[in-house]
Amino acid sequence: MKDRLVAGGGRLEGEVRVPGDKSVSHRALILGALAEGETVVEGLSSGADVASTRTCLSALGVEISGAAPSVRVRGRGLGGLKAPAGDLDAGNSGTTMRLLAGVAAGHGFSSRFVGDESLTRRPMKRVAEPLRAMGATIGLSESGTPPVTIAGGALNGIEYLTPMASAQVKSAVLLAGLHARGETTVIEPAATRDHTERMLTAFGVPVRLTGLKVTVTGGSRLTASKVLIPGDPSSAAFWVVAATLAPGSELAVRGVGSNPTRTGYLSVLARMGADIHREPMRGEGGEAIEDLIVSSSDLRGAVISADEVPGLIDEVPILALAAALAAGESRFCGLGELRHKESDRLAGIAALLTSFGANARAEGDDLIVTGVKTLTAAKVDSLGDHRLAMTGFIAGVLASGESTVSNASCAEISYPTFYDDFIQRAK
Ligand code: S3P
Repeated sequence: MKDRLVAGGGRLEGEVRVPGDKSVSHRALILGALAEGETVVEGLSSGADVASTRTCLSALGVEISGAAPSVRVRGRGLGGLKAPAGDLDAGNSGTTMRLLAGVAAGHGFSSRFVGDESLTRRPMKRVAEPLRAMGATIGLSESGTPPVTIAGGALNGIEYLTPMASAQVKSAVLLAGLHARGETTVIEPAATRDHTERMLTAFGVPVRLTGLKVTVTGGSRLTASKVLIPGDPSSAAFWVVAATLAPGSELAVRGVGSNPTRTGYLSVLARMGADIHREPMRGEGGEAIEDLIVSSSDLRGAVISADEVPGLIDEVPILALAAALAAGESRFCGLGELRHKESDRLAGIAALLTSFGANARAEGDDLIVTGVKTLTAAKVDSLGDHRLAMTGFIAGVLASGESTVSNASCAEISYPTFYDDFIQRAK
C-alpha cells in the first residue's frame, strides 16, 4: 500500500459530490440479485467493498452488467442463487460477508466465505448464532472468525434479539428470514441504519416495523426496481469536518443521503458549534438526500452519549479529529463496537490523534479528547483501515508542516478518488 505525503495548511472551496452510499450499494446489488426482473442501479459506490459484493454475487450466478456508478442486476428470484464453484472472497468487507451469509443460509447448497487479513480477525459468531437458530449449519474458526462455512436451506423463522446494535446482523437475519418458513423478527437494542428495511419495501416486500422491532415474512417475493443511491454521508463527513476546521473554507457537499439513522454526526457537529446549512433535496426509493453547505467555524467540545453511537459509528474517527481541535473536553461514550471494525478503531484513533499532538485516550469503552489549538505534523499508519487513512490525511492538512500517512491507499475501500478530489478543492 502506498504512503501519502500531506502538506499542512490551506482551505476548501467549491463543491463536491461523494461516491454512492456504501451500505445502500451493497443492498442494491443483493436485493437486485434476489428479485424477479432487472434492477437498474444508479450511483453505485465505486469502492472496493462494494466490488467484493459484486464478485461474490457473480460467483453465485448473478449477472451484473455495467460499471459503477451505473449497473444492472439480473435478478434470479428468491432462493434462485447457484452453488458457487469455489470460495466466496469478501475482501475487506464485513457487510459483504455478513449480509451474504444470511442469503447463503437460505439456499440448499454449501458455501465458504473468506476475507483479507483484517476481515479474518472480525467476529462472525454474531451472525452464525441466529442463522444456526434458524436451521443453517455454520462453521467458523475456533476464535469465531472467518472462514465462514455455510450449509443452508430449509430455515425456520425466528424472533431474535440482537445482542449488539448492528445493522449487519439485523440485515443478515432479515435476508435469511425472506427464505425461511413463517415470520422472522429482529429486535434491536438501539436503532441502527435501516437501509435494508427501506429497500425491501421499495422492492415490494411487506416489512412490519414497531419501534425497535422489524418483521418480514418468508417467501415474500422481491420485484426488481430502479435504485438511485444517495451520496455516502460517511464519506461526506470527511469534507464537512475538514471545511469546518480549515479556516476560511466555504464548501458545498451535494446529494448526500439524509436518512436519519446516518446523520448523527451532523447533530454532534451542530452541538459543537459548526456552521452547516442543510438543504433537503428530493431522493428516491425511500432514501432522502440533502446538500450540505459548510463554512468554517470554531468548535467546542461535546459529550456523545452511548445511545447516539449507532447513528454515527463510522464517523467517530473524523468526529474525534474535530474534537481534537475544539475548545475543552469531548467524551465519546460506549465505543466498544469500534474495536471490531476494519481495525481496532478505538485504539487506532487515540494513537493517531496523539501522534498529531492532540490529547486523546481510551478509558474503557469511552474516548476522551481534550482540544488543542494546533496540531503538529506527524507520520502515522492507517493500519489498513480506510477511515483512519482519510482521518490521518485531514489531520495532516490541518497540522503545520508536512505529514505522512502510511498505507494510505486503503481509502479505495470506500472512496477511491478521495485524495485527488481533496487536492483539487484545496486552495
Ligand atoms: C454497516 C453497518 C455497520 C457499519 C458498517 C456498515 C451496514 O456495521 O459500521 O460500516 O452496511 O450494515 P455493524 O453492523 O457491524 O455495526
